[in-house]
Formats: sequence, C-alpha cells, structure tokens
Amino acid sequence: MNPVTIHPDPAAAGAAIAADIADLIRRRQAEGRPTVLGLATGATPVPVYRELVRLHQEEGLGFEGVRSFNLDEYWPIDPAHPRSFARFMREELFVPAGLDPKDCRIPDGLTPMPQLAEACRAYEQAIRDAGGIDLQLLGIGLSGHIGFNEPGALAGSRTRLVELAESTRLRAAPAFGEEEVPKRGISVGIGTILEARQIVLLAFGEEKAEIVARARQDEPSVAIPATLLRSHPDLRWVLDEAAARRL
Ligand code: GLP
Repeated sequence: MNPVTIHPDPAAAGAAIAADIADLIRRRQAEGRPTVLGLATGATPVPVYRELVRLHQEEGLGFEGVRSFNLDEYWPIDPAHPRSFARFMREELFVPAGLDPKDCRIPDGLTPMPQLAEACRAYEQAIRDAGGIDLQLLGIGLSGHIGFNEPGALAGSRTRLVELAESTRLRAAPAFGEEEVPKRGISVGIGTILEARQIVLLAFGEEKAEIVARARQDEPSVAIPATLLRSHPDLRWVLDEAAARRL
C-alpha cells in the first residue's frame, strides 16, 4: 500500500512537505539542474504554499531553476478573475515567493474552443520539454476527483477539456457568489499525473476521512479517480489526524 504520514494538523503537514520541496530545490540548484513541480489549487495545498513563502521570505529560499505546471483551470475564465486558479496561484505562491511568472504554467482559461486541443497538446509537450514533473502535489475532492479528473476519467487520460461534476460546481458556488460556476475546466489527465516521478497526495479534515479510506482501500476504478493513482511507484499520502480517522 502507498505509504501514509499523519501529522497533528494541516500546518504541520504543510511545513513537512514544504521542507521536502525546499530540499529538492536546493539539491537541484547545487547540481545546476532545474526542479519541475506539479502544483494544485483548493484549500488543501495552502499550508504548503504558506510555508514555502515563509522559507523564501525569512530563510532565503530561492526559486531559481524552478518550473511549475498547475493541474487545472476553469474554462472559460479570465486569468484575472478572482476565482481563477491562475489568480489563486499568483496570490498564494508565485508573487509572495518571487517565482518568475514565465516559469509557472497554468492551463489558459481563455483559450478559444478551436485552439483547445492544440493548447492541451502543447501543455503536455511543455511538461516533457521541461524534463517531466519531479514532484506532483495533489489534493483530493470529496468524490475522489484529482485535479478536474472527475469520476469516469480514464487512467490514460491526458490534458483536455472536461465537464465539471455537479458536486464540484456546487462546492465552488459560494466562492462565485452571484456568478455561475463555469461548467467546464481544462485538466491534465490521470495519465499525465502518473508520469510524475513523485506524487504527494494531501488530505486534511474530517470531511476527507471517508474518501481517503476508499481511495486507499477500494478496488481501483474510474468511479474514484484517486484509486487509479495507486499503481504509482512513489506515491505517498500526507494527512492530518482528522483525515486519517477511517484508516
Ligand atoms: C477542486 C480542484 C482539485 C482539488 C479539489 C479539493 O475541484 N480542482 O484540484 O483537489 O477541489 O479542494 P479542497 O482542497 O479545497 O478540498
């Protein structure tokens, strides 16, 4: 079974993962090699980003040589929209940690429909050209979705336009207020994620306890996309005590 580490709370988990990421970055910098990070949005990775920002601001961690690829974005959405993942990443990590925007890729929520297929292929190619993802950070949705790989997503799926599940849109609705939540998104695929050299799956809070247990124990199936990641040779779960309650 994929290893699991349980921390007392999300802040402790975030600090531990940020320390691992910082080590990886420093090792690669010493070797003169780039570090390629796969990044996620949602509330879950925020403690990791907070700690990376602190390490940058208080302990001089530099992000030279770091390239990042985010998992997903709503479509259509303007990258300047307050609820876009592009804006979230700029505010939570890229700007406060001093990352160069040209090194941080996120699927473009304004890609016109006729160019989408080509843009998705180009995103996959950019990941390969960067040398592939060294460390992929992931959260998990209550349905077991990963990025915007909703139930039904195939193990071999690639970056593409996807329909968002009703449950995903409902959960995002309060943040969008009066505005309608986009019905679609662009997401890297399960196949893309499986190619990362290392995967760190984060889950915090009681509400995630059941899906964490099912993702680890149920028969692998497209009904719970996270189960499709289990075959990865270097996937570990990082939980707080509440999310580990059903293990
Ligand atoms: C969204 C994102 C996922 C994220 C999930 C859980 O749908 N596209 O990448 O893992 O929600 O979000 P949270 O971490 O806020 O629970």
